[in-house]
Amino acid sequence: MTNKEIIEGYNKSKESLNPILDKLQDINGFVSKDDIANIANYLEITEKEIMILLKYKKNIKLEKQGDNIVIVCKGPNCLKNGSLDIIKAIEYEFDVKEGNTSKDGKISLETKNCFKKCAFAPNVEINGKLYSNCKKNDIVKILKDMIY
Ligand code: FES
Repeated sequence: MTNKEIIEGYNKSKESLNPILDKLQDINGFVSKDDIANIANYLEITEKEIMILLKYKKNIKLEKQGDNIVIVCKGPNCLKNGSLDIIKAIEYEFDVKEGNTSKDGKISLETKNCFKKCAFAPNVEINGKLYSNCKKNDIVKILKDMIY
């Protein structure tokens, strides 16, 4: 089934926008520009309306995600305890920018405002597993072991 067929399987109403986006995210791991154009066309809304919604819908990714998803906390406690150094180390070691995926597709580097584990700052989630009291060198080593 193509993405277009998936989109057109939903009711042609604005209420379908959220479920369509969630479905495409689930199936493909991201929602492409073409998908957004097709959704806008099918639901007879503008692409801009969809992009406004996507600002709040953080689960939807607009590009293919890397093999490994790294989320570094940028909440106050984690910042105070070195999360920016961790971000910089990951950017340097794996040639990836915050909010993006490395060219080789190995890592997506994201940030989050708080994992609600502030007492154990800094916190980093790698592929769904939370690491606490992180040191930048340990995180780089964990990632190198996963990737290489
Ligand atoms: S500030 Fe990082 S977990 Fe709360």
